[in-house]
Amino acid sequence: MGRPIAGSQEAGVISGGFPHNPFRIGPIEVPNRLVMAPLHEITDQPFRKFIREIGGVGLVVSEMISSEALIRHAVKAEKMMAATGERPLSMQISGGRPEALAEGARLCEAAGADLVDLNMGCPASNVTKGGAGSALLKDLRLAERCVTSMVKAVQVPVTVKMRAGWDASQKERGEFLDFLRMFEAVGVQALAIHPRTRAQQYEGHADWSIIARAVEAGTTYPIIGNGDVNTADDAFRMVAETGCAAVMIGRGALMNPYLFRQILEPGLAVTLDLRVAAILRLFRILQELLEPQEALHKIKKIGAWFTKGVPGGHAFRHNLHACDDAEALLRAIEALREQNVA
Ligand SMILES: Cc1cc2nc3c(=O)[nH]c(=O)nc-3n(C[C@H](O)[C@H](O)[C@H](O)COP(=O)(O)O)c2cc1C
Repeated sequence: MGRPIAGSQEAGVISGGFPHNPFRIGPIEVPNRLVMAPLHEITDQPFRKFIREIGGVGLVVSEMISSEALIRHAVKAEKMMAATGERPLSMQISGGRPEALAEGARLCEAAGADLVDLNMGCPASNVTKGGAGSALLKDLRLAERCVTSMVKAVQVPVTVKMRAGWDASQKERGEFLDFLRMFEAVGVQALAIHPRTRAQQYEGHADWSIIARAVEAGTTYPIIGNGDVNTADDAFRMVAETGCAAVMIGRGALMNPYLFRQILEPGLAVTLDLRVAAILRLFRILQELLEPQEALHKIKKIGAWFTKGVPGGHAFRHNLHACDDAEALLRAIEALREQNVA
Protein backbone atom coordinates (compact mmCIF):
# COMPACT_ATOMS: atom_id res chain seq x y z
CA MET A 1 0.00 0.00 0.00
CA GLY A 2 1.24 3.45 -0.82
CA ARG A 3 0.88 6.49 1.34
CA PRO A 4 -2.51 8.24 1.62
CA ILE A 5 -3.30 10.52 -1.28
CA ALA A 6 -3.37 14.28 -0.93
CA GLY A 7 -6.21 15.60 1.16
CA SER A 8 -7.37 12.07 1.93
CA GLN A 9 -7.96 12.29 5.65
CA GLU A 10 -11.08 10.28 6.21
CA ALA A 11 -12.45 12.38 8.98
CA GLY A 12 -15.98 12.81 7.77
CA VAL A 13 -15.53 16.56 7.81
CA ILE A 14 -12.81 16.48 5.17
CA SER A 15 -13.42 16.31 1.46
CA GLY A 16 -11.59 17.48 -1.60
CA GLY A 17 -8.04 18.42 -2.17
CA PHE A 18 -5.08 20.31 -0.96
CA PRO A 19 -4.33 23.22 -1.10
CA HIS A 20 -7.30 25.13 -2.49
CA ASN A 21 -10.36 23.53 -0.95
CA PRO A 22 -11.91 24.79 2.26
CA PHE A 23 -12.02 22.61 5.35
CA ARG A 24 -14.03 22.80 8.52
CA ILE A 25 -13.07 23.06 12.14
CA GLY A 26 -16.43 22.39 13.74
CA PRO A 27 -18.74 25.10 12.34
CA ILE A 28 -15.85 27.31 11.20
CA GLU A 29 -14.97 27.14 7.53
CA VAL A 30 -11.32 27.71 6.75
CA PRO A 31 -11.11 28.90 3.13
CA ASN A 32 -8.10 26.77 2.17
CA ARG A 33 -5.69 24.21 3.62
CA LEU A 34 -2.92 26.59 4.67
CA VAL A 35 -2.39 27.73 8.25
CA MET A 36 0.07 30.24 9.70
CA ALA A 37 1.64 28.73 12.82
CA PRO A 38 1.53 30.54 16.15
CA LEU A 39 4.89 32.24 16.74
CA HIS A 40 5.64 33.91 20.05
CA GLU A 41 6.36 37.65 19.68
CA ILE A 42 5.74 37.40 15.93
CA THR A 43 2.14 36.47 15.04
CA ASP A 44 0.67 39.48 16.78
CA GLN A 45 -2.03 41.67 15.28
CA PRO A 46 0.29 43.65 12.94
CA PHE A 47 1.96 40.52 11.60
CA ARG A 48 -1.37 38.78 11.08
CA LYS A 49 -2.69 41.79 9.16
CA PHE A 50 0.48 41.72 7.07
CA ILE A 51 0.46 38.01 6.25
CA ARG A 52 -3.21 38.12 5.30
CA GLU A 53 -2.53 41.07 3.02
CA ILE A 54 0.31 39.18 1.31
CA GLY A 55 -2.28 36.48 0.72
CA GLY A 56 -2.67 32.74 0.44
CA VAL A 57 -3.16 31.90 4.09
CA GLY A 58 -6.46 30.36 5.19
CA LEU A 59 -6.10 30.58 8.96
CA VAL A 60 -3.75 32.44 11.27
CA VAL A 61 -3.07 31.67 14.89
CA SER A 62 -2.12 34.28 17.48
CA GLU A 63 1.07 33.98 19.46
CA MET A 64 0.74 31.98 22.67
CA ILE A 65 -1.03 33.95 25.42
CA SER A 66 -0.57 32.86 29.03
CA SER A 67 -3.89 32.05 30.67
CA GLU A 68 -2.40 32.94 34.05
CA ALA A 69 -1.46 36.39 32.71
CA LEU A 70 -4.93 36.80 31.22
CA ILE A 71 -6.71 36.10 34.48
CA ARG A 72 -4.41 38.60 36.25
CA HIS A 73 -5.48 41.09 33.55
CA ALA A 74 -1.83 41.67 32.70
CA VAL A 75 -1.77 44.47 30.12
CA LYS A 76 0.70 42.71 27.83
CA ALA A 77 -1.45 39.57 27.67
CA GLU A 78 -4.63 41.57 27.07
CA LYS A 79 -2.93 43.40 24.21
CA MET A 80 -2.13 40.04 22.63
CA MET A 81 -5.87 39.45 22.22
CA ALA A 82 -6.26 42.60 20.10
CA ALA A 83 -7.98 41.71 16.84
CA THR A 84 -10.14 43.51 14.36
CA GLY A 85 -11.86 42.00 11.37
CA GLU A 86 -9.65 38.93 11.11
CA ARG A 87 -11.67 35.95 10.04
CA PRO A 88 -11.20 33.20 10.93
CA LEU A 89 -8.83 33.87 13.83
CA SER A 90 -7.50 31.35 16.27
CA MET A 91 -6.15 32.55 19.61
CA GLN A 92 -3.74 30.26 21.35
CA ILE A 93 -3.49 30.07 25.12
CA SER A 94 -1.09 28.26 27.41
CA GLY A 95 -1.39 27.07 30.96
CA GLY A 96 -1.45 24.05 33.19
CA ARG A 97 -4.47 24.79 35.42
CA PRO A 98 -7.93 23.89 34.12
CA GLU A 99 -9.64 26.85 35.84
CA ALA A 100 -7.20 29.39 34.42
CA LEU A 101 -7.48 27.87 30.95
CA ALA A 102 -11.27 27.96 31.09
CA GLU A 103 -11.23 31.65 32.01
CA GLY A 104 -8.51 32.36 29.44
CA ALA A 105 -10.60 30.67 26.74
CA ARG A 106 -13.65 32.73 27.75
CA LEU A 107 -11.65 35.94 27.51
CA CYS A 108 -10.36 35.01 24.05
CA GLU A 109 -13.86 34.20 22.87
CA ALA A 110 -15.09 37.54 24.20
CA ALA A 111 -12.22 39.27 22.40
CA GLY A 112 -13.37 37.83 19.06
CA ALA A 113 -11.59 34.50 18.64
CA ASP A 114 -13.32 32.12 16.22
CA LEU A 115 -11.27 29.26 17.65
CA VAL A 116 -9.35 28.83 20.88
CA ASP A 117 -6.22 26.69 20.74
CA LEU A 118 -4.37 25.06 23.64
CA ASN A 119 -0.59 25.05 23.50
CA MET A 120 0.73 21.59 24.30
CA GLY A 121 4.01 22.01 22.51
CA CYS A 122 6.06 24.88 23.88
CA PRO A 123 9.41 23.45 25.02
CA ALA A 124 10.67 26.57 26.85
CA SER A 125 11.56 25.70 30.43
CA ASN A 126 9.98 28.87 31.84
CA VAL A 127 6.69 27.57 30.38
CA THR A 128 7.06 23.85 31.16
CA LYS A 129 8.15 24.39 34.74
CA GLY A 130 4.71 25.87 35.43
CA GLY A 131 3.17 22.69 33.99
CA ALA A 132 2.19 24.39 30.71
CA GLY A 133 3.10 23.87 27.04
CA SER A 134 4.69 20.49 26.31
CA ALA A 135 4.70 19.62 30.04
CA LEU A 136 1.04 18.67 29.56
CA LEU A 137 2.24 15.77 27.41
CA LYS A 138 3.55 14.14 30.57
CA ASP A 139 0.14 13.94 32.21
CA LEU A 140 -2.75 12.64 30.12
CA ARG A 141 -5.31 13.07 32.92
CA LEU A 142 -4.32 16.67 33.64
CA ALA A 143 -4.30 17.42 29.90
CA GLU A 144 -7.81 15.94 29.72
CA ARG A 145 -9.02 18.18 32.55
CA CYS A 146 -7.44 21.21 30.89
CA VAL A 147 -9.02 20.60 27.50
CA THR A 148 -12.37 19.66 28.99
CA SER A 149 -12.53 22.85 31.02
CA MET A 150 -11.90 24.89 27.89
CA VAL A 151 -14.48 23.02 25.82
CA LYS A 152 -17.08 23.57 28.52
CA ALA A 153 -16.19 27.25 28.90
CA VAL A 154 -16.72 28.44 25.32
CA GLN A 155 -19.10 28.10 22.39
CA VAL A 156 -16.34 28.37 19.79
CA PRO A 157 -14.38 25.25 18.80
CA VAL A 158 -11.40 24.31 20.94
CA THR A 159 -8.32 23.01 19.14
CA VAL A 160 -4.93 21.74 20.31
CA LYS A 161 -1.37 22.06 19.06
CA MET A 162 0.95 19.36 20.34
CA ARG A 163 4.38 17.83 19.91
CA ALA A 164 5.11 14.15 19.28
CA GLY A 165 5.84 13.60 22.95
CA TRP A 166 7.95 14.77 25.85
CA ASP A 167 10.96 12.69 24.84
CA ALA A 168 12.00 9.93 22.45
CA SER A 169 10.82 7.10 24.70
CA GLN A 170 7.33 8.57 25.06
CA LYS A 171 7.23 9.05 21.30
CA GLU A 172 8.36 5.45 20.69
CA ARG A 173 5.57 4.20 22.96
CA GLY A 174 3.12 6.07 20.72
CA GLU A 175 1.50 7.82 23.68
CA PHE A 176 0.44 10.67 21.42
CA LEU A 177 -2.26 8.31 20.14
CA ASP A 178 -3.78 8.17 23.65
CA PHE A 179 -3.93 11.97 23.56
CA LEU A 180 -5.62 11.89 20.15
CA ARG A 181 -8.35 9.59 21.44
CA MET A 182 -8.79 11.65 24.59
CA PHE A 183 -9.16 14.82 22.48
CA GLU A 184 -11.90 13.16 20.48
CA ALA A 185 -13.74 12.05 23.61
CA VAL A 186 -13.77 15.53 25.15
CA GLY A 187 -14.75 17.43 22.01
CA VAL A 188 -11.55 18.90 20.54
CA GLN A 189 -12.29 19.97 16.96
CA ALA A 190 -8.86 20.07 15.29
CA LEU A 191 -5.31 19.08 16.14
CA ALA A 192 -2.05 20.50 14.83
CA ILE A 193 0.97 18.23 15.31
CA HIS A 194 4.57 19.41 15.28
CA PRO A 195 6.26 16.03 15.35
CA ARG A 196 9.38 16.85 17.29
CA THR A 197 9.62 15.87 20.92
CA ARG A 198 10.07 18.42 23.67
CA ALA A 199 13.58 17.06 24.20
CA GLN A 200 14.41 17.85 20.57
CA GLN A 201 13.43 21.51 20.98
CA TYR A 202 14.00 22.68 17.38
CA GLU A 203 16.86 20.26 16.61
CA GLY A 204 16.82 17.35 14.21
CA HIS A 205 13.94 16.99 11.79
CA ALA A 206 10.18 16.86 12.17
CA ASP A 207 9.20 13.19 11.88
CA TRP A 208 6.26 13.32 9.52
CA SER A 209 5.53 9.61 10.05
CA ILE A 210 3.95 10.70 13.34
CA ILE A 211 1.52 12.91 11.39
CA ALA A 212 0.73 9.96 9.11
CA ARG A 213 0.02 7.76 12.15
CA ALA A 214 -2.26 10.43 13.58
CA VAL A 215 -4.19 10.57 10.30
CA GLU A 216 -4.37 6.77 10.19
CA ALA A 217 -5.90 6.82 13.68
CA GLY A 218 -9.04 8.11 11.91
CA THR A 219 -10.02 10.92 14.26
CA THR A 220 -13.32 12.69 13.74
CA TYR A 221 -11.47 16.02 13.71
CA PRO A 222 -8.96 17.22 11.09
CA ILE A 223 -5.22 16.73 11.61
CA ILE A 224 -3.07 19.70 10.64
CA GLY A 225 0.54 18.77 9.85
CA ASN A 226 3.36 21.07 10.94
CA GLY A 227 7.13 21.11 10.86
CA ASP A 228 9.89 21.83 8.36
CA VAL A 229 7.69 23.00 5.48
CA ASN A 230 9.92 25.59 3.86
CA THR A 231 8.96 25.33 0.19
CA ALA A 232 5.82 24.67 -1.83
CA ASP A 233 7.23 21.23 -2.67
CA ASP A 234 7.56 20.46 1.05
CA ALA A 235 3.90 21.31 1.58
CA PHE A 236 2.70 19.01 -1.20
CA ARG A 237 5.07 16.29 -0.01
CA MET A 238 3.78 16.53 3.56
CA VAL A 239 0.20 16.06 2.39
CA ALA A 240 1.15 13.24 0.01
CA GLU A 241 3.16 11.41 2.70
CA THR A 242 0.78 11.89 5.61
CA GLY A 243 -2.71 12.60 4.25
CA CYS A 244 -3.09 15.51 6.68
CA ALA A 245 -6.04 17.82 6.08
CA ALA A 246 -4.05 21.05 6.15
CA VAL A 247 -0.49 22.27 6.47
CA MET A 248 0.69 24.69 9.15
CA ILE A 249 3.80 26.74 8.41
CA GLY A 250 5.93 28.76 10.81
CA ARG A 251 9.55 29.55 10.01
CA GLY A 252 9.10 28.87 6.30
CA ALA A 253 6.64 31.77 6.12
CA LEU A 254 9.09 34.03 7.94
CA MET A 255 11.87 33.20 5.52
CA ASN A 256 9.43 33.69 2.66
CA PRO A 257 6.14 35.42 3.48
CA TYR A 258 4.95 34.62 -0.06
CA LEU A 259 5.17 30.87 0.60
CA PHE A 260 1.42 30.43 1.07
CA ARG A 261 0.85 32.11 -2.29
CA GLN A 262 3.53 30.01 -3.92
CA ILE A 263 1.73 26.87 -2.76
CA LEU A 264 -1.49 28.12 -4.34
CA GLU A 265 0.10 29.72 -7.42
CA PRO A 266 2.80 27.40 -8.81
CA GLY A 267 5.56 29.35 -10.55
CA LEU A 268 5.19 32.53 -8.53
CA ALA A 269 8.75 33.87 -8.30
CA VAL A 270 9.79 35.67 -5.13
CA THR A 271 12.16 38.39 -6.30
CA LEU A 272 14.26 40.63 -4.10
CA ASP A 273 11.87 43.47 -4.97
CA LEU A 274 8.99 41.45 -3.54
CA ARG A 275 10.97 40.75 -0.37
CA VAL A 276 11.84 44.42 0.02
CA ALA A 277 8.21 45.34 -0.56
CA ALA A 278 7.24 42.89 2.18
CA ILE A 279 9.67 44.40 4.69
CA LEU A 280 8.46 47.91 3.87
CA ARG A 281 4.80 46.94 4.09
CA LEU A 282 5.26 45.17 7.40
CA PHE A 283 7.12 48.19 8.77
CA ARG A 284 4.26 50.50 7.72
CA ILE A 285 1.70 48.28 9.44
CA LEU A 286 3.86 48.10 12.57
CA GLN A 287 4.16 51.89 12.57
CA GLU A 288 0.38 52.23 12.23
CA LEU A 289 -0.38 49.89 15.11
CA LEU A 290 2.53 50.21 17.53
CA GLU A 291 4.63 52.84 19.24
CA PRO A 292 7.65 53.91 17.11
CA GLN A 293 10.30 52.09 19.19
CA GLU A 294 8.22 48.94 19.38
CA ALA A 295 7.68 49.04 15.61
CA LEU A 296 11.42 49.36 15.05
CA HIS A 297 12.18 46.52 17.46
CA LYS A 298 9.73 44.23 15.68
CA ILE A 299 10.88 44.99 12.15
CA LYS A 300 14.47 44.36 13.18
CA LYS A 301 13.45 40.98 14.54
CA ILE A 302 11.09 39.88 11.77
CA GLY A 303 12.70 41.68 8.80
CA ALA A 304 15.88 39.73 9.47
CA TRP A 305 14.03 36.46 8.76
CA PHE A 306 12.76 37.77 5.41
CA THR A 307 16.28 37.91 3.96
CA LYS A 308 17.64 34.52 5.07
CA GLY A 309 19.32 32.88 2.09
CA VAL A 310 19.12 36.03 -0.05
CA PRO A 311 22.35 37.43 -1.61
CA GLY A 312 23.43 40.35 0.57
CA GLY A 313 21.09 39.16 3.33
CA HIS A 314 23.86 38.70 5.85
CA ALA A 315 25.13 42.28 5.47
CA PHE A 316 21.55 43.55 5.53
CA ARG A 317 20.85 41.79 8.82
CA HIS A 318 24.01 43.31 10.25
CA ASN A 319 22.87 46.80 9.17
CA LEU A 320 19.36 46.14 10.38
CA HIS A 321 20.61 45.19 13.80
CA ALA A 322 22.38 48.55 14.11
CA CYS A 323 19.36 50.68 13.05
CA ASP A 324 18.04 53.00 15.67
CA ASP A 325 15.42 54.85 13.67
CA ALA A 326 13.18 54.50 10.63
CA GLU A 327 15.58 56.44 8.35
CA ALA A 328 18.41 54.04 9.16
CA LEU A 329 16.12 51.15 8.35
CA LEU A 330 15.26 52.62 4.95
CA ARG A 331 18.98 53.16 4.26
CA ALA A 332 19.70 49.51 5.11
CA ILE A 333 16.99 48.41 2.69
CA GLU A 334 18.39 50.68 -0.02
CA ALA A 335 21.87 49.17 0.50
CA LEU A 336 20.42 45.66 0.12
CA ARG A 337 18.76 46.68 -3.14
CA GLU A 338 21.92 48.31 -4.51
CA GLN A 339 24.08 45.34 -3.60
CA ASN A 340 21.80 43.10 -5.60
CA VAL A 341 21.67 45.46 -8.58
CA ALA A 342 25.47 45.89 -8.66
C1 LIG B 1 10.21 32.01 17.11
C2 LIG B 1 9.20 30.92 17.33
C3 LIG B 1 8.12 31.14 18.16
C4 LIG B 1 7.17 30.12 18.38
N1 LIG B 1 6.09 30.38 19.15
C5 LIG B 1 5.10 29.43 19.29
C6 LIG B 1 3.92 29.72 20.02
O1 LIG B 1 3.70 30.81 20.55
N2 LIG B 1 2.99 28.70 20.11
C7 LIG B 1 3.18 27.46 19.53
O2 LIG B 1 2.31 26.58 19.63
N3 LIG B 1 4.29 27.20 18.83
C8 LIG B 1 5.25 28.15 18.69
N4 LIG B 1 6.34 27.88 17.93
C9 LIG B 1 6.43 26.59 17.20
C10 LIG B 1 5.85 26.78 15.78
O3 LIG B 1 4.49 27.12 15.81
C11 LIG B 1 6.03 25.51 14.95
O4 LIG B 1 5.35 24.46 15.58
C12 LIG B 1 7.47 25.11 14.76
O5 LIG B 1 8.27 26.23 14.45
C13 LIG B 1 7.61 24.06 13.65
O6 LIG B 1 7.06 24.54 12.44
P1 LIG B 1 7.97 25.21 11.27
O7 LIG B 1 9.05 24.19 10.93
O8 LIG B 1 7.01 25.43 10.15
O9 LIG B 1 8.55 26.46 11.83
C14 LIG B 1 7.32 28.86 17.76
C15 LIG B 1 8.43 28.64 16.93
C16 LIG B 1 9.37 29.64 16.72
C17 LIG B 1 10.54 29.36 15.80
